[in-house]
Amino acid sequence: MHVHPPLLPHRSASSLIIPSRSLRPSHSLRYPCLQIRKFTVLALESSADDTCAAVVTSGRKVLSNVVVNQQSSLEQYGGIHPYVALHAHQRRMASVVQSALTEAGLTMNEIDGIAFTRGPGIPGCLSVCANAARTLAAALNKPLVGVHHMQAHALTPFLTSPPSSCPSYPFLTLLVSGGHTLLLLATAPTAFRILATTADEAIGNAFDKVAKMLRIPYEGRAAGAALERFCAAGGEGAEEEMIAMPRTMRGRLAFSYSSLHSVVERFVQAKQGELDQMTKLALARSFQRAAVGQLEEKLVLGMRKCAQEGIGVRSLVVSGGVASNTYLRERLRACLDEESAGEEISLVFPPPSLCTDNAAMIAWASMHRFLAGDTDDYSIETRPRWSLEDLEREEAGPSQV
Ligand code: KG4
Ligand code: ZN
Repeated sequence: MHVHPPLLPHRSASSLIIPSRSLRPSHSLRYPCLQIRKFTVLALESSADDTCAAVVTSGRKVLSNVVVNQQSSLEQYGGIHPYVALHAHQRRMASVVQSALTEAGLTMNEIDGIAFTRGPGIPGCLSVCANAARTLAAALNKPLVGVHHMQAHALTPFLTSPPSSCPSYPFLTLLVSGGHTLLLLATAPTAFRILATTADEAIGNAFDKVAKMLRIPYEGRAAGAALERFCAAGGEGAEEEMIAMPRTMRGRLAFSYSSLHSVVERFVQAKQGELDQMTKLALARSFQRAAVGQLEEKLVLGMRKCAQEGIGVRSLVVSGGVASNTYLRERLRACLDEESAGEEISLVFPPPSLCTDNAAMIAWASMHRFLAGDTDDYSIETRPRWSLEDLEREEAGPSQV
């Protein structure tokens, strides 16, 4: 990869000027579309269980955003079954791409570049979007960019927020999904420092397990969303039965979620049978409160660490599937207000539909690279394990990764 100036994503389409000096001559000659002002990306995503394709322009227009999820098989297996997910991606990717183009009202000829999720994710699943994107790009002689999935989650607000409320660097990011629980410091679109990560399982995974253990009906929702709805819709009366949850990793910049779901598991096993509705409600609410409470505690620790290092954090971005949780949004807002009294730290959540996995965020995260002419070879490989911190190092070095 090559060093490139960061895209200022909040600019309007008309002010987005391709930084032509940084274009590699070979690239602009090879791909004439890199010389045009408005750039349209078709992006594909299949890193976990959602099969996604989207068409997004450099003017921040999401022309289509198709997501086909696998909730029914998730309900059956209580989590992502890699083999089942792989086959579903293989069956669906072609029609998802077709739908994205149809909804956007475009043909492949009108697409300027193709992006895909390069990693991290489930190896077989990643290969579906990678193969589709590489083949389309090579056959049609279009430029190709492989995107880091978590970078895409972190940059989503630059696509979705009004220009006046886009986050400002440096900002903190909480990425909370089925596979990740990360507190990051972002100083540029490709510069991330991990302040805290999970020592065991991710918060979304714990939500999924607890929802399954309590046999909460998913009704077409993600398991975590079903648990949230169950907690909210259950009414009064469970408060007296709330159970104590451990405050694991107390005082440390690290997350742990397996201990929380284990408490619920032990409780359910000890009851040896159907739990009554009130007990279920108390368990679900106790879990959700503790899971979000852990995010609050680590956020405060992270903010204090930045302050000690003289880093003036300007915004907090919360993204990933779990960030669509309304209770979490309210608690983090209150936590930030309390901790940042007197300072202006904006709290930015993408809309819930773009918090969960989608290809629009992949398209947007690829945009600055397309515009800088920093594209990948058609032989680019997936990276199932890929730290966000590596992005900055690799950007400075040759593109041999
Ligand atoms: O970001 P995402 O769509 O996929 C991954 O990259 O993992 O996140 C999916 C996770 C799942 O664990 C799902 O149960 C959880 O996000 N989730 C929620 C909610 N909506 C989705 N967890 C809690 N509350 C929600 N409303
Ligand atoms: Zn995700």
